[in-house]
Amino acid sequence: MRILVTGAAGMIGVKLVQRLSTGHLGSRKITALHLVDVWEPKPVTVPGARVTTEACDLAAPEAIPRWIGERPDVVFHLAAVVSAEAEADFEKGYKVNLDGTFRLLDAIRVQGLAASYRPRFVFASSLAVFGTPLPEVIEDDFPAIPLGSYGTQKAAGELLVNDFSRKGYLDGVSLRLPVICVRPGAPNKAASGFFSSIIREPLTGREAVLPVPETIRAWHASPRAAVGFLIHAASIDLAPLGANRTLNMPGVSASVGDQIEALRRVAGNDAAALIRREHDPAIERLVGSWPKAFHPRRATALEFKAETSFDEIIRIHIEDELRGAART
Ligand SMILES: NC(=O)c1ccc[n+]([C@@H]2O[C@H](COP(=O)([O-])OP(=O)(O)OC[C@H]3O[C@@H](n4cnc5c(N)ncnc54)[C@H](O)[C@@H]3O)[C@@H](O)[C@H]2O)c1
Repeated sequence: MRILVTGAAGMIGVKLVQRLSTGHLGSRKITALHLVDVWEPKPVTVPGARVTTEACDLAAPEAIPRWIGERPDVVFHLAAVVSAEAEADFEKGYKVNLDGTFRLLDAIRVQGLAASYRPRFVFASSLAVFGTPLPEVIEDDFPAIPLGSYGTQKAAGELLVNDFSRKGYLDGVSLRLPVICVRPGAPNKAASGFFSSIIREPLTGREAVLPVPETIRAWHASPRAAVGFLIHAASIDLAPLGANRTLNMPGVSASVGDQIEALRRVAGNDAAALIRREHDPAIERLVGSWPKAFHPRRATALEFKAETSFDEIIRIHIEDELRGAART
């Protein structure tokens, strides 16, 4: 099978590509893997498959028909201008997140006009589609009324995936990913960055800043779980979803206090003592408005699986990032 990954140089993209480098997606053998991003993705070796990488801007449409001309069986669409940047740069956010997504979907439609073609399309959506007021626990039928440009672009992408699937141009699904934690690498400027840094930095003996009270609660899953969701979504029968091709993904509801207690259990008091409180009311206002918990019944019925505790999320970070790094 042939696979296209957009956003392949991003945090989740790199991990997805690592997983695909086994040479299989589910029970099917990968024969071609095309990786695109604004930054040229690192090439990987996939046994028995032709791997190609390309630096390309999704907002510049010329290349898209060529990618789709290769008739990938599965498209993982991860490329996005993420939350803070899409809010700060309105035009760029819409060009990449909305126009780019539409162009990709429409190139698939056009490709199918010549000869039958109906790939699986897996779209990385976000909990940012939900705006306040929110219930303590969000059910699958809770309406998506975003209060930001990024969430609006993701919600629009979900509707497009529904419509293109309804028309039979593709077989699509949108996954609303939880806050993916612990994000590896250097701290980034995202407002949500502290959810990861208060775990990641103390685990390697470094101080981390906590800008919000410990009562702030969010819905988390590990990068390993995120890759699992994407692979599962590419492999299963989507017919049970009917017209609504959007799924809230499972996760762990944890307050910052729960996160710190989990860190204490896994890594000890010394690690937890490296968290320095430095209140930032703007960050508190923003993340305090995010969804805290879900009953993702439809996704659970389709056997999407996340971690069941924050301790497990920390252990996965240690296994995937720290033990792995120590070996290399
Ligand atoms: N990480 C999370 O917590 C989280 C949560 C919900 C949804 N998501 C979604 O999952 C996807 C992957 O997230 P991530 O954490 O890996 O983000 P990331 O920022 O690490 O990766 C996104 C990638 O998209 C690429 N990109 C941006 N603009 C582009 C353009 N014009 N053309 C081509 N590529 C472009 C970036 O270069 C980057 O490599 C995104 O769509 C994001 O919105 C992530």
